[in-house]
Amino acid sequence: MEHPGIIQGGMGVGVSDWRLARAVSVQGALGVVSGTALDAVVARRLQQGDCGGHMRRGLAAFPDRATAGRVLAAWFRPEGTTDTHDFKPLLLREMTADGTSPQAVDDLTVAANFIEIYLAKEGHDGLVGINFLEKVQLPNPAAIYGAMLAGVDYVLMGAGIPLEIPGLLDRYARGEAGEIRVHVEGAAKEERFIVRFEPSSVLSSPPATMKRPFFLAIVSSYILAATMLTRASGKVDGIVVENQSAGGHNAPPRGVLELDAGGEPIYGPKDSVDYAKMVGLNIPFWLGGSYGMPDSLQVSRAEGATGIQVGTLFAFCRESGLLPELRKRFLAALEAGKARIFTHPGASPTGYPFKIAMLEGTLSEKAVFEKRTRVCNMGLLRQLFKTPDGKIGYRCPAEPVASFVSKGGAIEVAAEARCLCNALLANLGLGMSYAGARLEKPLLTVGKHLESLRLLVRRFGTDYTATDVLVFLGLSQRGEVRS
Ligand SMILES: Cc1cc2nc3c(=O)[nH]c(=O)nc-3n(C[C@H](O)[C@H](O)[C@H](O)COP(=O)(O)O)c2cc1C
Repeated sequence: MEHPGIIQGGMGVGVSDWRLARAVSVQGALGVVSGTALDAVVARRLQQGDCGGHMRRGLAAFPDRATAGRVLAAWFRPEGTTDTHDFKPLLLREMTADGTSPQAVDDLTVAANFIEIYLAKEGHDGLVGINFLEKVQLPNPAAIYGAMLAGVDYVLMGAGIPLEIPGLLDRYARGEAGEIRVHVEGAAKEERFIVRFEPSSVLSSPPATMKRPFFLAIVSSYILAATMLTRASGKVDGIVVENQSAGGHNAPPRGVLELDAGGEPIYGPKDSVDYAKMVGLNIPFWLGGSYGMPDSLQVSRAEGATGIQVGTLFAFCRESGLLPELRKRFLAALEAGKARIFTHPGASPTGYPFKIAMLEGTLSEKAVFEKRTRVCNMGLLRQLFKTPDGKIGYRCPAEPVASFVSKGGAIEVAAEARCLCNALLANLGLGMSYAGARLEKPLLTVGKHLESLRLLVRRFGTDYTATDVLVFLGLSQRGEVRS
């Protein structure tokens, strides 16, 4: 099978939702759903009354009625509206002795990933992928199972070195249970902590086999690409090479982190990838980060790549999951020549540099950030660590500072850390009310290369569609690339 030339990059949380992935996929490119925090996204859409009935339609197709019924009973609020923000908290995933999770937690994660892929693939035969972060380990086995149950075609994973995921896909495809090793800071090398998913926990009769999706690793260097190929637990079908200009998280510069006068990480020649070496790996690869110009596909192919992965242009199209108000405000700033993107070295609890759009009323503003009362009620980016008495502890640099420090966290790591779990959900209109009546504030992430977005808007206006992006990138009709 020939892989698509254009990948619409997975954009979390919920920016590339089923609508966007579907709109891209029907045009012949690879539409990618973001799998990050889908349990929270789906639970909150259900609590807001499930406008349009899409979540319930997806749930109606779930292969186990009892599980679907439990999810609906736990989360659907018929009286909910888009003004509903007093969301019921999700049970935080924690490690258990045998690596499994409580049924209610797995029910929601599997169903949410199933629903999103089911809807993205509904009514056409285009290709759909799902994107996960290696850094968010605990939900991944259940989430990947849910996506495979709905027939996902590609699994893409970055933000770490996802060595164990290809083998996990193989096991699920054979109808087996799956587990991955979990990183616990301070644990001895020989200690093994796992998180495990048993299909029979959510399905009374699990399928004997499932389609094995293609696996694409998202990396920032040739060395990591080569490491994936030699050390992964199963077949790696391709590589997305993403540079530091891309939206979302970026790899830190190689060597010691140095900042420029404006406070952004300094990248050097060591951070660029030799594409000739990538060609030598003999595996399809795509280029991501500032490859959003009309000639980018040709440029990538001249380097020996299969194509490009594009995020930023799709983040602001009509089908994006971003709140229309945020989309419009950013595009207005762009047109006024005032849009500015900052590569923040300390905003993300992951420790990776994170691209931030400097936009009024969002957590990019110091005053807005400092006004937020720190709460950790989602916990996706908590780091696991070994406590002095040998147990597993959980800490996040964005949680209340005193609590983070009391668990051994370094105060300087906490200083600038933003709660991405809550902020990214706020970007979608799914922000939580907390500490009384306050509403979580958004935080936009956008790639550095804004020239392509400017050109696109000049050609199609600010209310452009995913199809407009594909036409701009040279995809004329279903799967066909303009030469
Ligand atoms: C709003 C936004 C959210 C993103 N979220 C993720 C994510 O959750 N996981 C991921 O691997 N990449 C993420 N990315 C990166 C994109 O998938 C893509 O690789 C990148 O945007 C390509 O570079 P460009 O921004 O110059 O187009 C995100 C990008 C944007 C703009």
